[in-house]
Amino acid sequence: MAFVTIEGLTKSFGDNEILKGIDLEVERGDVVSIIGPSGSGKTTILRSLNVLERADGGHIEVDGRVICSDRGKAKIQFASKKELRSIREGLGMVFQRFNLFPHMTALENIVEAPMAVKGVSRTVAEKTARELLESVGLSHRADHYPAQMSGGQQQRVAIARALAMEPSIMLFDEVTSAVDPELAGEILLVMKRLAEQGMTMLVVTHEMGFAADISDRVLFIDHGKVVEQGSAAQVLSNPQHERTKAFLHAVLERAPMDAPADADDTHWPANDDAAHIAAAAHHSDEAKLEALQTEVARLRAELDATRQQSDSAQESGV
Ligand SMILES: Nc1ncnc2c1ncn2[C@@H]1O[C@H](COP(=O)(O)OP(=O)(O)OP(=O)(O)O)[C@@H](O)[C@H]1O
Ligand SMILES: [Mg+2]
Repeated sequence: MAFVTIEGLTKSFGDNEILKGIDLEVERGDVVSIIGPSGSGKTTILRSLNVLERADGGHIEVDGRVICSDRGKAKIQFASKKELRSIREGLGMVFQRFNLFPHMTALENIVEAPMAVKGVSRTVAEKTARELLESVGLSHRADHYPAQMSGGQQQRVAIARALAMEPSIMLFDEVTSAVDPELAGEILLVMKRLAEQGMTMLVVTHEMGFAADISDRVLFIDHGKVVEQGSAAQVLSNPQHERTKAFLHAVLERAPMDAPADADDTHWPANDDAAHIAAAAHHSDEAKLEALQTEVARLRAELDATRQQSDSAQESGV
């Protein structure tokens, strides 16, 4: 059985159905990346998984423990508060915006939860915290406050803080999108090392080079549905669906004006993708960069062909 199972997940905000039946599985030790346009529901999936949002329907299970389920029921039911709290302790989450406590140093940020939630002694918690800071390259920042650190450093402290709870899975939500592109690489490197150490990871990212590099599987989400999923090579290099192709084309080339003629409903990804790609490219090795460039050229040719077809179809009144 998969480590994480999400089945038929639905979620609305008011009249807006944001998730329309998401199915997703993460095997233990795997890295699964979620890509998709802004507003497609990526964050809502992660937030439903750690119950920052309560799903309307579906079944969510982590490590054999049921978070919520509507299997064989008229209405979704959630685990008890106590059980949810306990499950959540095993889910490490790092967000887009740095969410360190501003009035605490890096070290204090990291020891806080293990001491308060798990009852770890200060001596042990600090020892672990220093090891974690070292593992993210920030030994020398232990006594710095968030405001005294760069965005990249703050995100690495946030990762160390999540790891201090010894999570069985790490959830990352666009953790590089609010930092300067040149600092993204240091965060991605920390994540890559984690992946190599066998951490189970669910990663929402706009960094296609990075997703291609570390993912066992990639899901492309649009309008609250999984459009396509498969290995990174399948989804990123050989996408089957027009929407996936258009999305990758837009992200890699940042060319919304080149949208395919029939893409009226397209909402293009957030505007700083070019910077992300630059950063991803910077941290991919040469071969991968070349592969991506070839891929961009291929996608562009394919989209041109599609557009020509639809133009000539329109002209001939078909
Ligand atoms: N608490 C909320 N109340 C109302 N609407 C919400 C709420 N949270 C999210 N939404 C809406 O749900 C939709 C999906 O949001 P979500 O944050 O999951 O998208 P996303 O794929 O993560 O986008 P981005 O790439 O911009 O982060 C958006 O239209 C958003 O405005
Ligand atoms: Mg989001």
